Amino acid sequence: MSTPTDTARPTWGPDLDLGARAFWEQPFEVREEAFARLRAEHPVSYHRAYESSLLPPDDDTPGFWAITKWEDCRRVSRDAETFVSGEGVLMEDMPEVVILATTSFLAMDGPEHRQVRGIVSQAFTPRNVRKIDAWIDSVAKELVDEIIDLGEGDIVDLYAKQLPGRIFAFFFGVEPGSDDMHTIMEAAERMLAWDDPNCALGRDALTTFAEEAERIQEVAMARADHFRDNPADNLVSWVVNATFEDRVLDDWEIAAFFSLLGSAANDTTRHSIGHAFRLFSEHPDQLALLREDLDGRLDGAVEEILRYVSPVQHFRRTAVNDTTVGGQEIKAGDKLVLWYCSGNYDEDQFDDPRRFDILRTPNKHLGFGAGGPHFCIGAALGRQMIKATLREVYTRMPDLHLTAEPEFQVNNFINGIHKAEAAWTRAD
Ligand code: HEM
Repeated sequence: MSTPTDTARPTWGPDLDLGARAFWEQPFEVREEAFARLRAEHPVSYHRAYESSLLPPDDDTPGFWAITKWEDCRRVSRDAETFVSGEGVLMEDMPEVVILATTSFLAMDGPEHRQVRGIVSQAFTPRNVRKIDAWIDSVAKELVDEIIDLGEGDIVDLYAKQLPGRIFAFFFGVEPGSDDMHTIMEAAERMLAWDDPNCALGRDALTTFAEEAERIQEVAMARADHFRDNPADNLVSWVVNATFEDRVLDDWEIAAFFSLLGSAANDTTRHSIGHAFRLFSEHPDQLALLREDLDGRLDGAVEEILRYVSPVQHFRRTAVNDTTVGGQEIKAGDKLVLWYCSGNYDEDQFDDPRRFDILRTPNKHLGFGAGGPHFCIGAALGRQMIKATLREVYTRMPDLHLTAEPEFQVNNFINGIHKAEAAWTRAD
């Protein structure tokens, strides 16, 4: 069987049309109904190019294969010879210059990826990771100190966005509360929120993305210059001075890596934490279970949050050879979107997947990707930020609960929670 041309490929009705912006305006639960149908009836299905505001598609823009089963996501992710990242990693296309300037080794393949990832990995020595863990614990405590007596407010704004934002600023070694810290946190927040008028401030999507990434890069380059001659204890300094196979990163590579982290380290964790507050408010039985044995159940709770939320909903690969996935013929050059949010609800992998269950075991979720060379390099730090939050918040503000319907982002990449009004009382 040959693969149909784009014009001959099937088009889906509105309820299964992953290329429609309207699809992503629906609640997660409604989208999961659609993914469940795709998993059952069309596990590998072809869709039109996304109605992107970054680079709007024309009639000739190719669509993509949607990979919805856990097993198929793993297979594609682990075969990086056949399925590459260098042709783009998101469902929607971006101009090449933006990919080069902001995706770093996330969008590299083969030896180049191995080398740049290798250099960055040198910065995450056990000693340095312990240092970051200590920052995380102290910022979690400091944040609860700041908000505990307020008793109510938007917990996304007051806490969820603050913790990774402050840790991200620590990465640059900037003074807490300084202008640089403010710039970095603000730019990281706006960079990926080009569809949000509060972040775009009248700019078009591409300008918003490019300008905010540039603000992060300017700070990163200035800090890199400084720390090359004056090594210190922060991530910029560790990365600038890291070597792997006799190679160091140049200024542009450093800038691209730190603008990648603006989304990879910051947004992902922020939304995981925001959703964690929502989930425990919606599932008081699970909060009671957690509080009964906080030390024993924290790890399981973190994994279940990552599975249930799928903070990163997809990543894309491009086939370089003709092949098959899940019985479907794929042509060289075809795009494949790995739907982690669907794999995480795959009935063949998870019992009763729509149940939020912090005791779930095993829990081989795809929250940090589906394995292979691009598996999240910051998984341990992401976990630590969620864990420190649950420990600090549910020990000192244990009755934290949402007081209004939360607001979600319209976003096909990050499962974003925009606002969550909450109330709490102090326990200590
Ligand atoms: C809960 C928080 C986080 C989630 C859900 C998350 C998720 C992911 C996912 C799904 C991938 C792609 C995996 C793939 O396609 O195979 C990834 C890659 C990556 N993440 Fe994370 N991440 C988180 C936190 C972090 C943190 C804290 C850092 C940095 C310290 C980080 C740095 C990266 C980098 C640099 C990559 C690219 C790796 C590569 O291409 O080799 N992430 N992350």
